[in-house]
Amino acid sequence: MKAKLKLRRVGKRAKQETSKVKASKGRRASKRAGGNWQDEVERVLITEEQIEQRIKTLAHAIERDFRGREMVVVSLLNGTVMFLADLMRHLNLPLRLDFLGVSSYGLGTESGELVYTKELRLDVRGRDVLLIDDILDTGKTLRHVLPKLRALKPRRVKICVLLDKPSRRVENVHADYAGFEIPDYFVVGYGLDFAERYRNLPFVGVLHPHVYKQGCKQICRK
Ligand code: IMP
Ligand code: MG
Repeated sequence: MKAKLKLRRVGKRAKQETSKVKASKGRRASKRAGGNWQDEVERVLITEEQIEQRIKTLAHAIERDFRGREMVVVSLLNGTVMFLADLMRHLNLPLRLDFLGVSSYGLGTESGELVYTKELRLDVRGRDVLLIDDILDTGKTLRHVLPKLRALKPRRVKICVLLDKPSRRVENVHADYAGFEIPDYFVVGYGLDFAERYRNLPFVGVLHPHVYKQGCKQICRK
């Protein structure tokens, strides 16, 4: 079966839906997230409900493609935590799970030099690997990780990302499964961060430019 799914475009319609969410669900989310996110997050781009629905569809497609194989899920830390947890509970097939820690020493919203903070422990030789990341942006992270993983001789590697920002791509990397195609916004929430914050928001929101213009130092002190 063809692994590539039709991507969901998040545009005008989502904007309309999300403004409603801000008024009702937003208050609940803000309490749960424990912060005053309304001042820092310009608007909700993808709601909890949209994420939940989309993940079910992705999980079904992955299940079909991986059925009967020795599956190892390799998830990149830290941005994938929420996506991984929600996706995995819908994957009804035997699997093993491991993490690869990657950190990019970049400034603000730009990625920089990649450093590995955790190595794989499971043996992936001969296995079918599902590599999970939060967002495919320039593609530099996956361009770095893929040869490292392929050197361990898995049978095949399929890439699954929650978000895809194709307009920013500089490397020739393609996701086999992608939740939502988004425009060139810097987004946070549902695992994604700016200066290690906002990961706990239950939705994906557009970060207000005044936040990243302040720079990491100011944000980290808060
Ligand atoms: P790439 O290497 O440029 O493809 O970027 C991949 C990594 O950059 C992701 O795993 C994220 O950690 C980070 N990133 C890229 N775009 C965003 C964004 O809009 N919000 C938060 N993190 C991002
Ligand atoms: Mg990040």
